[in-house]
Amino acid sequence: MKVKVSVFGFGTVGRALAEIIAEKRKVFGVELNVVSITDRSGTIWGDFDLLEAKEVKESTGKLSNIGEYEVYDFSPQELIEEVKPDILVDVSSWDDAHEMYSYALAEGISVVTSNKPPIANHYDELITLARENGVGIFFESTVMAGTPIIGLLRENLLGEEIVKMEAIVNASTTFILTRMENGKTFEEAMEEARTLGILEEDPSKDIDGIDAYYKAKILHWVSYGEQPEEEEREGIRNVKDARNVRLVAEISKGRISVAPRKLPDNSPLLVSEVENAALIKTENLTLTLKGPGGGGKVTASGVFTDIIKAALKFPSPR
Ligand code: NDP
Ligand code: HSE
Repeated sequence: MKVKVSVFGFGTVGRALAEIIAEKRKVFGVELNVVSITDRSGTIWGDFDLLEAKEVKESTGKLSNIGEYEVYDFSPQELIEEVKPDILVDVSSWDDAHEMYSYALAEGISVVTSNKPPIANHYDELITLARENGVGIFFESTVMAGTPIIGLLRENLLGEEIVKMEAIVNASTTFILTRMENGKTFEEAMEEARTLGILEEDPSKDIDGIDAYYKAKILHWVSYGEQPEEEEREGIRNVKDARNVRLVAEISKGRISVAPRKLPDNSPLLVSEVENAALIKTENLTLTLKGPGGGGKVTASGVFTDIIKAALKFPSPR
């Protein structure tokens, strides 16, 4: 089965995804063909070489410098209408991408995304639109990158009632706090984090707990199918003594909270570097999930799996 893919956004995750697709073009009978890539400089569309596009972006900063191919200045709606992919993959940092998803879903195009605000803020309308049009919307890498908490909640735990979750879902703050535990200042730790490719384009989203808040909201949506009534958010700017402190997200029915907390020495949430962790309590099970929470390749890995699921038309009851 040949599947046409449009990639929107070509930063750390988009380029890591290009590498994976170039390596594994055909899996489970699905033959992936990336027909367009978009960054802020424009859209390349047609028969280009994926790795050449990556090389041009890395060496010049702009896709539009890809010489021999035409570059289009499409609006998101034009992109969907002109290119008509089978799957739209959003690996951009565009907060308002939900409108583009709506165009795609209404046209019978499945959406795969690692971009959090569109899912956190528009989950119900997007899921409904996907259902109405017989297509899927997949967002594994929005929470814990490629560590599969979304698949666990959306598929494996479908029959379980989620009682409560406590999780470390922001890798940048864990990295900064662990550096501060080792004697670095907040500013020195921030500088180091910048080199890892895990900070948001606007790093205050990490520091002020906004990224973790979006993730907590997504976990609430997939666990309970509704948005929380009570929300609390505090970032790590005021942390002075970082020993055993992590930015903890708590999710229970109707409530999400994100705040720095001092954890006991033996807490499974006391992860370091860019690791994420989640304690999931359901009516019958208590689970711990740990894994990398950021970085190009691990995030692109979750996106790639979602592309395969979209191509194979995996059902998503929630
Ligand atoms: P980057 O900042 O490296 O890349 C973002 C890309 O989006 C850039 O190519 C940028 O274009 C493009 N972009 C942003 N706005 C627009 C727009 N309006 N039109 C066209 N292109 C646009 O981010 P990452 O690759 O690190 O992350 C991508 C997404 O995945 C983000 O939403 C992030 O939150 C999420 N994510 C990232 C993880 C990580 O570890 N990096 C982990 C999990 C999720 P240009 O290059 O021209 O500026
Ligand atoms: N900025 C995010 C983090 C990237 O630090 O967790 C992964 O979503």
